[in-house]
Amino acid sequence: MEKAIKKADVLIEALPYIKSYSGKIFVIKYGGSALINSEIKKKVLEDIVFMSYVGIRPIIVHGGGPFINEEFRKLGKKVEFTEGLRVTTKDDITVVDRVLSQVNEGIVSDIKTIGGRAVSMNTSKKNVIIARPHKDSKTLGFVGEIDRVSAETIRNAVRPRAIPVISPVSIGEDKELYNINADDAASEIAMAVKAVKLILLTDVKGIMRHKGDESTLISTLAMKDARTLIERKIIQSGMIPKVRACMNALNAGVTKTHIIDGRIQHSLLLEIFTDKGIGTEIVKDK
Ligand SMILES: Nc1ncnc2c1ncn2[C@@H]1O[C@H](COP(=O)(O)OP(=O)(O)OP(=O)(O)O)[C@@H](O)[C@H]1O
Ligand SMILES: [Mg+2]
Repeated sequence: MEKAIKKADVLIEALPYIKSYSGKIFVIKYGGSALINSEIKKKVLEDIVFMSYVGIRPIIVHGGGPFINEEFRKLGKKVEFTEGLRVTTKDDITVVDRVLSQVNEGIVSDIKTIGGRAVSMNTSKKNVIIARPHKDSKTLGFVGEIDRVSAETIRNAVRPRAIPVISPVSIGEDKELYNINADDAASEIAMAVKAVKLILLTDVKGIMRHKGDESTLISTLAMKDARTLIERKIIQSGMIPKVRACMNALNAGVTKTHIIDGRIQHSLLLEIFTDKGIGTEIVKDK
């Protein structure tokens, strides 16, 4: 009985959050690094389906880095990154697109198994990101910068309570495929659909002052301090595009941005429905 009452208490505690977030769009970037373990993946997707049933409108943008790396290794291809962005040749991009489409369809099918509704948005289904070559395309190859997002298509999918699942590959105006960093994609999509929250799920607790030392987790980070940490190379590699994605989103009116650990059970629900923030929140300078 005690246990049952506690459970009901937890539900009531979530009420103010459910009220204020009902009908609001959240963009969740689900990083490839936190997608590997299928048990954890199922738990994360359960949280997202739960969110959709209580009236929040989640949109998933997924990564797939480790899966792409594995495929590259099998094919004897070189894995190379510059500031967290994957150097992508013309031949590489077809592999990236294929692997990410598989990841995309896997997520869609898992959501359906859990009992949610999902709509696949990858290049073969619906090309919702239109990219142009990245300004550093000489070194990066077929990496794109987002020119525009088909916000209407995404919003229309969200309305009937379905969860759009978006792959970060684009067919550009020039009909070429472009590899987009998934953090960037999530951020641009959040701005385009006027999301209230951007949540980046990854495989670490959040931003740490000493990479790998969880006791140095930074709970709240102002944008100017984030820039300093990038300059000082405390924020490195895959964390750089995340921080930039959060800063761009905040500047464009997205209210809250969080980097949280997708490996912690119910990290999403804890972040959204309780006062205890977890991970790192990036905030505008005062
Ligand atoms: N200061 C820092 N604090 C925490 N993590 C950091 C820091 N600097 C760099 N990192 C690295 O950033 C990584 C997260 O980015 P990464 O691109 O590897 O994953 P992801 O974006 O979740 O997955 P994907 O790129 O496949 O979508 C962490 O695993 C960590 O190694
Ligand atoms: Mg990454």
